[in-house]
Amino acid sequence: MTRCIACGGLLEVRHQAPPLRGTALRAELDRRVGGSGVWRFRELVLPATAEPVSYPEGNTPLIASAAVAGFAGVAGLTLKHEGLNPTGSFKDRGMTVGITQARRVGAQAVVCASTGNTSASLAAYGALAGIRVCVLVPAGKIALGKLAQTVGFGAQVLAVRDDFDACLRLVEESSEQLGWYLLNSINPFRIEGQKTIVFELLQQLKWEVPDWIVLPGGNLGNTAAFGKALREALELGLIDRLPRLAVIQATGAAPFARSYAERFQHRYEVQADTVATAIRIGNPASWERAVTAIRESNGVVTAVSDAEILEAKTVIDRAGIGCEPASAASLAGVRRLVAAGTIAPSARVSAVLTGHMLKDPESLLGARHPVQEIEPSLDAMRAILD
Ligand code: F0G
Repeated sequence: MTRCIACGGLLEVRHQAPPLRGTALRAELDRRVGGSGVWRFRELVLPATAEPVSYPEGNTPLIASAAVAGFAGVAGLTLKHEGLNPTGSFKDRGMTVGITQARRVGAQAVVCASTGNTSASLAAYGALAGIRVCVLVPAGKIALGKLAQTVGFGAQVLAVRDDFDACLRLVEESSEQLGWYLLNSINPFRIEGQKTIVFELLQQLKWEVPDWIVLPGGNLGNTAAFGKALREALELGLIDRLPRLAVIQATGAAPFARSYAERFQHRYEVQADTVATAIRIGNPASWERAVTAIRESNGVVTAVSDAEILEAKTVIDRAGIGCEPASAASLAGVRRLVAAGTIAPSARVSAVLTGHMLKDPESLLGARHPVQEIEPSLDAMRAILD
């Protein structure tokens, strides 16, 4: 079950508090190096597990780039590159916990709806665990790299003639009817794993809290996870204050940004469209808990156009870092919030890159990136180079 039978709201996992707190807990966590960047935080994620299903995952780099910082207008900008997880997106952090839990409850089959990354990750972790995987994706609307991975890892792929929001409705209904274990981020164990993006980031910053953490928002599971991670880090004395969260949506898929502008008085649902197919979502499932995350962190939500996303992506790619379009919304958002005066140029900002550059080859090989074909001769080369 993912929902409360009384109110229909999403369930949350609460663990018993770990024995250590504050600097003692920090020291213990800092003592653990290597292994999985998720299971290093085991007592904060899934304490009772004997044997996790793990690659391992996590331990992603925090990258500083003068070119990217210059574009954003913030010298103190770092990029947490979650695209460098085993299947190329942050989803692996939630999936290692989700599949571990699926095995723990004896699931015979697992199912998810996805814009591509969740399905690739579920296909991989399902294969690792030897559990049957079925995924529902919006037909023709997921990036080629993600589809190829999902098929390659051996999942059954059903392309639904509708959008992601329809896939999510269908997957909730079907998982209930078929008795298959649901592994979208409405599953609270996914959220527990995704919290470790924040724990690992804080640790890499030597527990010095940044002023801002910036991430793209689609279904808002990650926003919910970030909010929960920060709340727990504060409660456990790992940090002494909260950073502000900035959630960035694409203008064609921005119901949450629209609602934020009206102090969350209304919940909106839109017909989503954006080049950033990962966040092409019109009715985010983790809405309430994302509102809580924004309110508690004094956060902001904004939207950036497809043109801004692609511009930011080119800057990240040309800096030698690379990411998929949805990830570049983070950088486009920082730039926009600096221009608006919301983020100070002197602020310490960490932006999350959620997916790998190779996820979406079509976005790279359009008319803007021409490849020139030549005869195999020096003359032919010279003719072009001149
Ligand atoms: N960035 C990437 C690369 C994503 O794949 C997603 C979500 C997000 C950002 C947004 O995260 O949904 O937690 O707000 N992808 C999901 C999927 C929907 O099916 O792979 P969110």
